[in-house]
Amino acid sequence: MQEIYLDNNATTHVLPAAVAAARQAMELGFGNPSSTHATGLQAKAMMEATRQRARRLLGVGEGRLMFNSGATEGIQTAVLSALCALRERRDAGEQIGSLLLYGATEHKAVPESLAHWNRLLGLGLTLRKLPVDSDGRHDLQALAALLDDTAMLCTMAANNETGVISDLSSIAQLLQERGSDACWMVDCVQALGKLKLNLAATRIDYAPFSGHKLYAPKGIGMLYVRAGRGAGSAGRRPHFLQPHRHGGHACAAGSQPAACTAWRGIQYAAGPVAADHAQFFRAWPVVQGAA
Ligand SMILES: Cc1ncc(COP(=O)(O)O)c(C=O)c1O
Repeated sequence: MQEIYLDNNATTHVLPAAVAAARQAMELGFGNPSSTHATGLQAKAMMEATRQRARRLLGVGEGRLMFNSGATEGIQTAVLSALCALRERRDAGEQIGSLLLYGATEHKAVPESLAHWNRLLGLGLTLRKLPVDSDGRHDLQALAALLDDTAMLCTMAANNETGVISDLSSIAQLLQERGSDACWMVDCVQALGKLKLNLAATRIDYAPFSGHKLYAPKGIGMLYVRAGRGAGSAGRRPHFLQPHRHGGHACAAGSQPAACTAWRGIQYAAGPVAADHAQFFRAWPVVQGAA
């Protein structure tokens, strides 16, 4: 019996191009990207070429894009970074608000990370669910009522179970109207390859991504961190990045996985789609052929 797999929001099969890229990275680019000899430099060049492609695809502008093990790690880093920044601001006498507000339909990694780091850092902020309506959309009236007291806001771009696309523009507008300085994380896992992303032009502070939702192997992810004064963030304070592992590298501890070049699958899968989802499906046989 032929198995038909349709659960692509949970995970996707690995695109042949991504398998080939990972294999090439492990066979030819096996060097440690931090080594200064030729083998290391070659691995680093592969990794940086991948990063440049991803930066263009996501419209990262002056922001940072770090590789990691997936969205759960990206969410941890974003939450820890935001909470450390909030603690500093509060210690300096600033009013930061008392709420860690997250959409009621967020992936569980979000509320669990908020609870974990809030407890560990001894911040004592209150976790609050932002309700969604019967269509699964964020309740913007509730958001308006809570925003002035919100220190961090987490609202996914698209839901992994319902497919509901969040109204990020209205959320950004509310943040602007209120002059809110809340840290804003948008889980973009389910948006990549389906919605146009031009992150630097938005107010989004942190955006995690996951490779295995878009035809790369599991264990590969990215985190976008907004630059201090990008187009969508004029006048806002510089980005803050607090790695949760230390040892060896500025952003990601440990020897960096050259296999992250398996994200190269994205150049086939998402390159043509970023602008137009429908085009993605039309391009699909070509994508397969390109492998
Ligand atoms: C919306 C969303 N966020 C986060 C995650 C976690 O991603 P990862 O498996 O890369 O840790 C997933 C995947 O299950 C997801 O669908």
